Amino acid sequence: MSTTRSPAGVSAHELRDMTPEQAMLAGTEADGVHIVHRRDRFPVRGTKAEKRAERGVALAFLVSALAGVGFVVAFVALPFHWHLPGTPQTFRFYTPALGGLLAVMLLFMGVGLVLWAKWLMPEEEVVQDRHDEPSSEEDRLMTQATLAVGLEDTGLPRRSLILRTLGLAGGAIATVPLVAMVGAMIKKPGKQLEHTLFAPNTKLFPPSGRIPLVYSDWRRVSPDDLLPGSIATVFPGVHEEGPDGKNGITSAASPTLVIRLRPGQQIEARKGQAGFGWPPDAPEYLAFSKICTHAGCPASLYEQQTTRLLCPCHQSQFEVLKDAKPVFGPATRSLPKLPIDVEIGSDGRQYFVARADFNEPIGPAFWERS
Ligand code: FES
Repeated sequence: MSTTRSPAGVSAHELRDMTPEQAMLAGTEADGVHIVHRRDRFPVRGTKAEKRAERGVALAFLVSALAGVGFVVAFVALPFHWHLPGTPQTFRFYTPALGGLLAVMLLFMGVGLVLWAKWLMPEEEVVQDRHDEPSSEEDRLMTQATLAVGLEDTGLPRRSLILRTLGLAGGAIATVPLVAMVGAMIKKPGKQLEHTLFAPNTKLFPPSGRIPLVYSDWRRVSPDDLLPGSIATVFPGVHEEGPDGKNGITSAASPTLVIRLRPGQQIEARKGQAGFGWPPDAPEYLAFSKICTHAGCPASLYEQQTTRLLCPCHQSQFEVLKDAKPVFGPATRSLPKLPIDVEIGSDGRQYFVARADFNEPIGPAFWERS
């Protein structure tokens, strides 16, 4: 048994005979921590005031737990888009709702912890000196006592209401990463990501339903607009909001590149895509999705000399003459190709239309995992 004495002049033997609070006070002195003021907020246990404070803290934890339950329910049950009955408006509040509930959950967890410290734990004011010495056995015993008194100060062992509601709130917060992982398996996007607004729509464009290609200002795209070796960013000319609440310009899957090859350039079409360009037998114009298949950046830097499309985000390169096959960088899938054709407009000029939707999914590798 050690007979050395702590810097506070107390031996291990004496410490063992002390109450936890006395040992803690000795420990704080030995650590150069001077308690200037310490007062139990409720010296008489079980008063109405104490119970009221306890219920207040528990209420904050309960609100946090309920927000957690709301988060799980919202994650699974809320629609991505919501149409206000009787109006043409569509609202997208799925993400804000999740963010709001998560904020309430964390906020009330914090409020509960602060109120607990302010209302129920002993009021204390301390001043601490710095010291760099290694800990002696006495120090360790005193630290143990300090932790024991700290636990006693929280009132955890006897405040079961707070303990239970804190457990509920903590459990709710712990489910958040779980919800993101498991919930995403329950709530799948379904087929909605497999179509773009280029899909033929006979209601909007009777009788063929073929979607006109337009610029961002809704002007139609004519083959005459492009010089050999140039490119243009185009969109499906669908003004009307689709089921996802977006039109041809605002939908994330829409941006498409029309590329005019230079004279003499020939493409090596991928299987099943031979007639996708225009003219179909000897294509001079090609249309590819602009959304990089690596991580969704716009791949729109076109090098005329090398006929490569570059994505600026992680330097993927797509060989246009091989139907936008990835030849460098992290992208592993070719850019989807849009089957195009031309129609004569009311002004007698030729304009591009989409003969059909893309025949493979747009954008990053979500598809390879499904
Ligand atoms: S997003 Fe295009 S290379 Fe990464």
